[in-house]
Amino acid sequence: MLKRFKNGPDDDPEKLSDFDSHGVLRDTYSICELNSMRLMGVFVVCLMVLSVLFSVSLVLRGPPSNGVSEVPEARVFEVKSSEVLAQVTFCCFFTFLKFIASEEDASMSVGLPKDKLLGGLLSAGFDERSCLSRHQSVMYHKELSDKPSSYLISRLRKYESLLIQCGPYSESYNRTLEQLKSGNYNRPSDCNYVVWISFSGLGNRILTLASAFLYALLTNRVLLVDPGVDMADLFCEPFPEISWFLPPDFPLKNQFSDFNQEYPQCYGKMLKDNTAINSTGSMVPSYVYLHLVHDYGDHDKLFFCDDDQSFLKKVPWLIMKTDNYFVPSLFLIPSFEQELSNLFPKKETVFHFLGRYLFHPTNRIWGLVIRYYQAYLAKADERIGIQIRVFDTGTGPFQHVLDQILACTLKEDLLPDINRKQDIARSSGKHKSKAVLMTSLSSGYFERIRDMYWEHPTVTGEVVGIYQPSHEEFQQTENQMHSQKAWAEIYLLSLTDALVTSSWSTFGYVAQGLGGLKPWILYKPENQTAPEPPCRRAMSMEPCFHAPPFYDCKARRGIDTGALVPHVKHCEDMSWGLKLVDSY
Ligand SMILES: *[C@@H]1O[C@H](CO)[C@@H](O)[C@H](O)[C@H]1NC(C)=O
Ligand SMILES: *[C@@H]1O[C@H](CO)[C@@H](O)[C@H](O)[C@H]1NC(C)=O
Ligand SMILES: *[C@@H]1O[C@H](CO)[C@@H](O)[C@H](O)[C@H]1NC(C)=O
Repeated sequence: MLKRFKNGPDDDPEKLSDFDSHGVLRDTYSICELNSMRLMGVFVVCLMVLSVLFSVSLVLRGPPSNGVSEVPEARVFEVKSSEVLAQVTFCCFFTFLKFIASEEDASMSVGLPKDKLLGGLLSAGFDERSCLSRHQSVMYHKELSDKPSSYLISRLRKYESLLIQCGPYSESYNRTLEQLKSGNYNRPSDCNYVVWISFSGLGNRILTLASAFLYALLTNRVLLVDPGVDMADLFCEPFPEISWFLPPDFPLKNQFSDFNQEYPQCYGKMLKDNTAINSTGSMVPSYVYLHLVHDYGDHDKLFFCDDDQSFLKKVPWLIMKTDNYFVPSLFLIPSFEQELSNLFPKKETVFHFLGRYLFHPTNRIWGLVIRYYQAYLAKADERIGIQIRVFDTGTGPFQHVLDQILACTLKEDLLPDINRKQDIARSSGKHKSKAVLMTSLSSGYFERIRDMYWEHPTVTGEVVGIYQPSHEEFQQTENQMHSQKAWAEIYLLSLTDALVTSSWSTFGYVAQGLGGLKPWILYKPENQTAPEPPCRRAMSMEPCFHAPPFYDCKARRGIDTGALVPHVKHCEDMSWGLKLVDSY
C-alpha cells in the first residue's frame, strides 16, 4: 500500500508535487521510507564492522606465542580494540533501536491513523488508483480542523457494513423492491432506503447529498443516489465495495421528473388530503416522496417534526428531492438530538467531516485541480480564494462589486494596498508572495484586480498574482464540462489559506466546508452600491440552510427556529436562514 501510494502518481501523467505551501516535504511516508532504508543500511554495515572487529580481537586475544602478547603496542591495540568494540556495539545497538522505532513509525503511517485516512474518517478498503484524490488530497488540504469523534468513525464503518448488507441487488434489496413493485407493504423490512434525486446546481447537490446522507445515518437507512446526467463523472464512489448509485432498473426512476408537491405520494400532499397516513400501523405506504425544495409548503415542512419522523420510520422507501442544506433543522428534532451530539461534539464540523468523507473528485477532475494548483498556487507563500457570485441581473462586472471586493480584502488585511505614487517598490530582495484564486462567471473582476497589481507596486513589497481558471459568463446547470470545471474550482478554493465568499452562494459554502475555513462573507449589495461594512467573518464554516421551517411542532404554531438553541443561529448572509455554530 505504501509502495502504491508512493509510486502511483509517478507512472501517472498527473504527477504530484511533494511540497506543501511552504516548500516543506509533506509526504511523511516517503520520509519514513527513506529513513528506514538508510537506517537499515547503517545497521547492516554496523553488523559487518562488528563481526570484523570481533574476529580481529579474537585473533589478537589468541594464545600468546613467543611472548608477543607482552609487547606494549599489542596490548595497547588490544585495549583500544575492545574499547572500539564496545563503542561500535553500543552504536549498533542504538541504530538497531532506531531502526525498530522507525519501522514502527512507518507501519503506523501505513496503518494511517492520522494522515491519509483523515483520522479514521476514510475507510482503508479502497483501491487508491481508482480515485487518486481520496488519499492525495491530504497533501494539498490543510489538516482537518478537528478530530472526527470516535463515535462518528464507528457509525461510518457501521454504515459501510449496512450498505454491504442492503445495497443494490442484495437479498434484502431485492425483497424490499418486490414490495415496492406490488405496492403492498405488510411487514417491516430489514433494510430501508432514502433515494436522493439529482436536482439543481452543483453546489446545491453537494449540500443536499451531505444532508441526505446524515439523515440516512440518523435513521439507519441506506442512501441511494440518482446518478442524474453527471454525478458519476464528478464524484468517486465514497463507500468501499458497494456503489452508492441507484440501479438503472429502479422501478420509479422514470417518474422522478413527475414528483412534485401535487404528486399523490408526496408526503405533504398526503398530510394535506389526509389520505393513507395511518400511524397505527398496518397500512403504511411502501414509498413516500419527500418534497424539500425551497418552494415547499407547510405540510411538507412537517418532515422536521418528531411525530412525522416516527411515521416515516415505517416507510421502507423515502424518495427525496431538495435543493437545500437542511442539516440545521435536523438538530432541532428532539429524537435526533442525542445521536447528533454524539456524532458531532463540535457542531460546526458536520459538513467539514461529511464532505471530506463523501466528496472525492474523480481522477479527471483531480487532474484539473492539481495541474492548476501546481502551475499557479503551489509556490506562493500564501493563497487567498475570492469567490464572486453576483445575483443581480447580468454578470457584470459591476463597479460596486469590484469596490466591495477591494474594500473587504484591504480592510481585513488579506491583500496589500497599492502605491499609486511610486512605480517601483522601495526595497528589493525577497518578498512574500500571495497567489489569489478568483472564481466568477465574469472575467471582469479578475482582469481589473490583476491589472491593478501589475500597474502599481504594493505598499508592503509583497508580490501578488491573480488567477482565474474559467469564466463561463452564465451558469449552466446541465452542461457537463461546466460542472466539471465548477467542481475543480470549488475544490481549488477549498485549498486556499483564506477565503472570501459571496452571500447566498452554495459554491462558497462547499469550498469553506471542505477546506475547514471560516470565510469572510461579502454582504449582498443593495441598490447597486457597495455595502458598508463590505464583509464580515463567518461565525462558523457551516453552510446556511436557506429555506428552514419556522414551526413549533409541539405548540403547533410559528416560532423563530433561529432562537431555540445556542448552536442553531441565523446566517450572516441571509437573515432568515439557519446555520450551525459553536459557542456563540
Ligand atoms: C437480486 O436480483 C437480481 C436481478 O434483479 C439478481 O441478479 C441478483 O442475483 C439478486 N440478488 C440475490 C442476492 O439474489
Ligand atoms: C389504520 O390502521 C388500522 C389498524 O391497523 C385499521 O383498522 C384502519 O382501518 C386504518 N385506517 C385507515 C384510514 O387506513
Ligand atoms: C434603494 O433605493 C430605493 C429607491 O431608489 C429606496 O426606496 C430604498 O430605501 C433603497 N434601499 C436601500 C437599502 O438603501
